Amino acid sequence: MSNPVPEVLANMGLSIPRVDARAKVTGTARFASDMPVANPAYAYLVTSTIARGRITGFDDTAARAVPGVLDILTHLNRPPLQPIKHFVAGGAGITATPPLAGPEIAHDGQIIAMLLADTFEAAREAAHRLIVRYQRQAPSATFGSPGVVEQRTATVLPERKDPGLGNADAALRVSAVVHDAEYATPTQHHNPMELFATTAHWMGDELTIYEPSQFVYGLRAGLAGQLGIAPQKIHVVNDFVGGAFGSKGAITQRTALVAVAARKLGRPVKLVATRDQGFTISGHRHETRHRVRIGAARDGKFTAYHHDQWELNGRTDPYVNGGVENAAAMYAFPNVISTGRMVRADRDPPIFMRSPAEVPVIFALESAVDELAVKLTMDPVELRRINDTDKNWVSGKRYTSRSLMKCYDAASEAFGWKRRNPQPGSMRDGDWLIGWGCATATYPTQVSPAVARVRWLADGSARVEIAAHDVGTGAYTVIAQIAAETLAIKPEQVSVAMGDSLLPPGPVSGGSVTTASACSAVKLACQQVLMRLALPAGATAAQREAAFEKLQLGAVEETGNFVPATSRSKSTAGLYKGSVDISGGANLAGGGNTMFAFGAEFVEVRVHARTREIRVPRIVGAFAAGRIMNPRTAHSQLMGGMIWGIGSALHEHTEIDKREARYMNDNLAEYLIPVNADIRQVDVILVPEVDSEVNPAGAKGIGELANVGTAAAVANAVFHATGKRIRELPITIDKLIVA
Ligand code: MOS
Repeated sequence: MSNPVPEVLANMGLSIPRVDARAKVTGTARFASDMPVANPAYAYLVTSTIARGRITGFDDTAARAVPGVLDILTHLNRPPLQPIKHFVAGGAGITATPPLAGPEIAHDGQIIAMLLADTFEAAREAAHRLIVRYQRQAPSATFGSPGVVEQRTATVLPERKDPGLGNADAALRVSAVVHDAEYATPTQHHNPMELFATTAHWMGDELTIYEPSQFVYGLRAGLAGQLGIAPQKIHVVNDFVGGAFGSKGAITQRTALVAVAARKLGRPVKLVATRDQGFTISGHRHETRHRVRIGAARDGKFTAYHHDQWELNGRTDPYVNGGVENAAAMYAFPNVISTGRMVRADRDPPIFMRSPAEVPVIFALESAVDELAVKLTMDPVELRRINDTDKNWVSGKRYTSRSLMKCYDAASEAFGWKRRNPQPGSMRDGDWLIGWGCATATYPTQVSPAVARVRWLADGSARVEIAAHDVGTGAYTVIAQIAAETLAIKPEQVSVAMGDSLLPPGPVSGGSVTTASACSAVKLACQQVLMRLALPAGATAAQREAAFEKLQLGAVEETGNFVPATSRSKSTAGLYKGSVDISGGANLAGGGNTMFAFGAEFVEVRVHARTREIRVPRIVGAFAAGRIMNPRTAHSQLMGGMIWGIGSALHEHTEIDKREARYMNDNLAEYLIPVNADIRQVDVILVPEVDSEVNPAGAKGIGELANVGTAAAVANAVFHATGKRIRELPITIDKLIVA
């Protein structure tokens, strides 16, 4: 296992421990559902047991008879709510449909009632006693189910253009070697450790919401719209978020419901949805299908890339990931065709999940590249080297920096790749077939406008305020570090406040933008503070004291407005209104050059010759992502990403009952994720890289980088071990046993 506190190399910050570590391990860190409110009522959700049809009636006699029950909200009596715009339409909602909108059922597990009682137990008991009558229709569960509707994404969402270049099909027809195959990835669920909780507390016409959120300004704006009140009347607080991965970025239906219930009861209301309810009320990673064609000349030079993608979606909201633009940018593809399609079924609306587009799309691309290498009898690393590029061919825009092959060199060296016998099934240890595989990790370097306020006192201590969020990543720590570094003080002298809508607006904690965006705003604010004091960077304590003395000030406070050069809005105005303006990667509507972080991952698998049990004894990843703010937290992010990647390769899969369009393993016992026994050696290598073009902080996001490509690396290793190519995730024993 690599050292969790990696050596500090060029362009890396200090490896300090997390500033919130003590609060987390001693239990003093308060999460949303820990926040105390006086005399709360408890809410419990009732969700539909059919996936399609309508509610014809309720019998609530037994439910109301439970002692302590206060109220039962259904579509028949729910207080009025205004519509919310969907995230894709520039709004804040995971769905545009308000909660309890009517008797229609659009998916299994839809919220159909909320029970309110003096205790959690009474609310739960009453929920189980509520009788619901339905008129059921047969639902369409997934790809291939009768009744699904297929649409071209570009038709439904014209701004989502399919990347294209030259004439890929003509080039494929004359290519010396062509690989053509289909790939599939399953439904997955975020399952953050912290459940989906909301507490609403009214004081007169002012509302406080305690909810784990990846975007407190977005939540505030969206909820204000739904309630028809001014955003300034709402205060959203979440000092800590116990994991999110995308499931806490857009407003789900529960929040407005808890808010109106609290107003109706005249008392705070607390909801903690159960683990199984979390599977249908907070989104999931969409299921995908791909057809990929890659052509190459005999020398390995790619001639064309043709990628067709199908994304499974619910019927209510047009959520799409796309992502082929990232695959098309990855190598020197002189010709590209891509098509994106949505397939609408009776499912809850999907939402982004850690590397939303990249995990499925890059699994397909990186499996296909490996398959092409086999056809060419070429080393897969060399095939990638031959097709490495310093520009995105589709847009013609150069990369601001790109250290992909440096990552391959570092990781393959550490892994011992040159000892690999390329012949499948050739490396054996007793009953275990050994396979070695590799793949590229990539994630668009994205940024968002961000605003931060820094107050610096004459004694050298500083306070940083930004409504960004620490979703478990170390954001508190790296933000303290950038302030300390810019002001030339110690990180311990900096206090950081986040996760509160009264603070200046930080970015949505999505798209791996937090570190680069928040740190850029903090750095600007610190530089303005130094300017006010006429202090040079690196000023000593004596210089600082003299400067404060001269201005006769106790503190200097400045607000840094970071507006990325690539942003569409060229302003932080939208941020104050809770809108998202993420730019970067291959998405250059606002201008700029191609920005991506890269990595290379090498995996050893062992497949039992008889039982086909699959183990992953070791994985090595090397990553280059501009400035590494803190090698310790970066190591943790990247290690966690690779472990997640192993999970997506071998374990994660929300299984669906096709007759009922219902998730079957909606619990942590049957929704498999890697545990300690599944993970042996994980090595993270940080490859130094300098990129002063991406943003003032010089940092590329790493929150989502490392779980991209891992599944392909595992699939490629499984092929090397067994000679069997699995193109459908997860790779399970049954798929290896079938002839
Ligand atoms: Mo993350 S899936 O971009 O919230």
